[in-house]
Amino acid sequence: MALLELQDLSLHYHTGRGVISAVNQLSLALDAGESLGLVGESGSGKSSIAHAILRLLPAYAQIRQGRIYFAGRNLLDLTEPQMREVRWRQIAMVFQAAMNTLNPMYTVGAQVVETILTHEPNMSSKAARARVEELYALVGLPCTLLRRYPHEYSGGMKQRACIALALACNPQLIIADEPTTALDVIMQARILGELESIRKERGMSVIYISHDMAMMAQVAERIGVMYAGVLVEYGCTIDLLAAPAHPYTAGLLAAVPSMADDVTQLQEIPGEPVDLYAPPAGCRFYPRCSRATAQCKEQAPPLLPCRRNRDGEHKAACWHLL
Ligand SMILES: Nc1ncnc2c1ncn2[C@@H]1O[C@H](COP(=O)(O)OP(=O)(O)OP(=O)(O)O)[C@@H](O)[C@H]1O
Ligand SMILES: [Mg+2]
Repeated sequence: MALLELQDLSLHYHTGRGVISAVNQLSLALDAGESLGLVGESGSGKSSIAHAILRLLPAYAQIRQGRIYFAGRNLLDLTEPQMREVRWRQIAMVFQAAMNTLNPMYTVGAQVVETILTHEPNMSSKAARARVEELYALVGLPCTLLRRYPHEYSGGMKQRACIALALACNPQLIIADEPTTALDVIMQARILGELESIRKERGMSVIYISHDMAMMAQVAERIGVMYAGVLVEYGCTIDLLAAPAHPYTAGLLAAVPSMADDVTQLQEIPGEPVDLYAPPAGCRFYPRCSRATAQCKEQAPPLLPCRRNRDGEHKAACWHLL
């Protein structure tokens, strides 16, 4: 049984200007111990999915339809106190711009200890402190930093502290939303390497969220590609990189620079991102797609199996699969 299963999830934001269709009929599953990358351009709905799973959406957001099963229970049916049991203890999140989530008034150590005690009230504060020291060692931070305030940390140190915080209650799933975007590539590789070795050691599942395809290729076993709120391609990383089936995925890959590339040769995806207040009725990518036909304009394609398919899971939502 999958650890996490999203079934037919659609979510809207009701704003002063109208209704934003941020996630549309999304189905996705993740097994225990697996890493999944959600990739897509800004505004494609990645963070919205994460916030829906943890039920941290604002009041003006509406889950129009769908179910979110975690360890066999539909999270959308839980009461708020039941959901508080799930957050941090079972599913933890490293938030986008996590660096700003630490309170400047308290030492980082005090904040991590307090988080552990809030979620594990039976633990003594001495045991919580010992746990924090272990976690700091795990993410490669010296314990002396626990007595320091957030402003005394560098960006990379804060990011590691947030990962330590996410690991504090030994969750089954961590959702890491752009965990290393603000860091240099060397620090990024180190932190992701550490998170991956912790995942494998503990048999945890991780959802990595990023717009950076090159980063996803390093860490995710499977990749889901989001475009304008729709999952347009899904598959194991090797298949997806070797033979992208959706024209949008192919476009994303063509836009990834490599050392050998002449940057003037990188290909951009032409056209404008979709207006989510009024998305196209058919395929949401069709206005930017060189393969689009009348059918694409009229009918939204379902996820269809691809030719290159190691495990039968490689699928793409396109009437003209590459
Ligand atoms: N709190 C909110 N209120 C209103 N609209 C929102 C809110 N959060 C997201 N949206 C809208 O929903 C859509 C999806 O946004 P989301 O933040 O999920 O995208 P994202 O893929 O995480 O983007 P990024 O890569 O920039 O973080 C966007 O059009 C965005 O404007
Ligand atoms: Mg986001």
